[in-house]
Amino acid sequence: MAPDSSDRIRRYDLVTPMRPCRDELLNGFERILSSGQYILGPEVHALEREMAAACAAADAVGVDSGSSALLAALELTGVGPGTEVVTTPYTFVATVEAVIRLGATPVFVDIRPHDLNIDPSLIETAITSRTRAIIPVHIFGTPCDMDPILAAARRHGLDVVEDMAQSFGSFYRGKPCGSFGRLASLSFYPTKNLPAMGDAGMVMCRDAADAAELRRLRGHEAIRVRGRLVSGWNFRIDELQSMVIRVRLARFADEQRDRDRVAAIYNELIPADHRLPDPETTAGARVTHHQYWVRTSRRDELQKHLAAHGVETGIYYDPPIHRHPLAEYCRAATSLAQAERAGAQVLTLPIHPALPEASARRAGALVRDFLLTEPAAVPTRPGG
Ligand SMILES: Cc1ncc(COP(=O)(O)O)c(C=O)c1O
Repeated sequence: MAPDSSDRIRRYDLVTPMRPCRDELLNGFERILSSGQYILGPEVHALEREMAAACAAADAVGVDSGSSALLAALELTGVGPGTEVVTTPYTFVATVEAVIRLGATPVFVDIRPHDLNIDPSLIETAITSRTRAIIPVHIFGTPCDMDPILAAARRHGLDVVEDMAQSFGSFYRGKPCGSFGRLASLSFYPTKNLPAMGDAGMVMCRDAADAAELRRLRGHEAIRVRGRLVSGWNFRIDELQSMVIRVRLARFADEQRDRDRVAAIYNELIPADHRLPDPETTAGARVTHHQYWVRTSRRDELQKHLAAHGVETGIYYDPPIHRHPLAEYCRAATSLAQAERAGAQVLTLPIHPALPEASARRAGALVRDFLLTEPAAVPTRPGG
């Protein structure tokens, strides 16, 4: 029997968190409407300052999407024809599209089964004389193990560009995502941790000189990178989106607490070997759950079971990018068996700041009961 619509537990609720901001948003709209400054004005400058502070970056440059943020950041590191970029196949396709659009080759290494992030111990096997950069993607809001990634980059003279599209608000060893690489790209897509009401993105910069170059690039100025002339483009962010993001940024800590509350309920109900192990095991880690995932070899069955009870879920990334049509442009440097298993086993549960506790309890209990009837648990940790 189809569940009553009042029993439905939706993956996202983009409207409810906007409601308490209504007056501020309408005032902001009115202010911008009468200012006549619709692009790259005071809201953008204020957002850039606030976001740089939040991510412990020297500066931040607003752009029109997370995809543009990646493209512009990679362009600045000299990624271009004949170069290679080491990254994970277990990511949204935009990570790889940016590399390919610049004429470079994405080189994949496998992920770690317990956190679904790039396995730092495999990175050096993928590095060649053509490698220019490494893109760690903090997937679902879980910070990558940055120390060994940065060490490998230092040893080989490579740039690190963090793809933090999903991880605003997450920390690794007490430092925010976005503060580790030379550059980091962020998305404000409406389902992300910190949302716009449309498309927008940002590049975090460790070095203020990089921010100055990116501002030229986003406004159609050509710049020289490692001797090569790089064409400018329209990567601009607008005032309205920046205003909306600032309004939500002021509420971010509260919303993060609401997400944490949901994650704590799921953690309590779902066996640890079927989900992200407690982040407290890594000193100074903080996970801002962009997605909350569970994994089981009976993933499709679990999804159907939850749907029958009105619980919406998501499947990521199935297949991972090395099975995507764009794989034609990519190279695998290691076995990608863990990424494939994750693609076949991972299911994401509803998590957002407006999710009622009772809904999280109901969804979590359904998952727990399903998993407890599983004949044999699938090991999710190395050696597990
Ligand atoms: C990992 C990752 N990288 C890049 C992007 C691209 O961001 P946008 O959708 O803002 O272009 C996304 C967005 O979904 C993402 O999840």
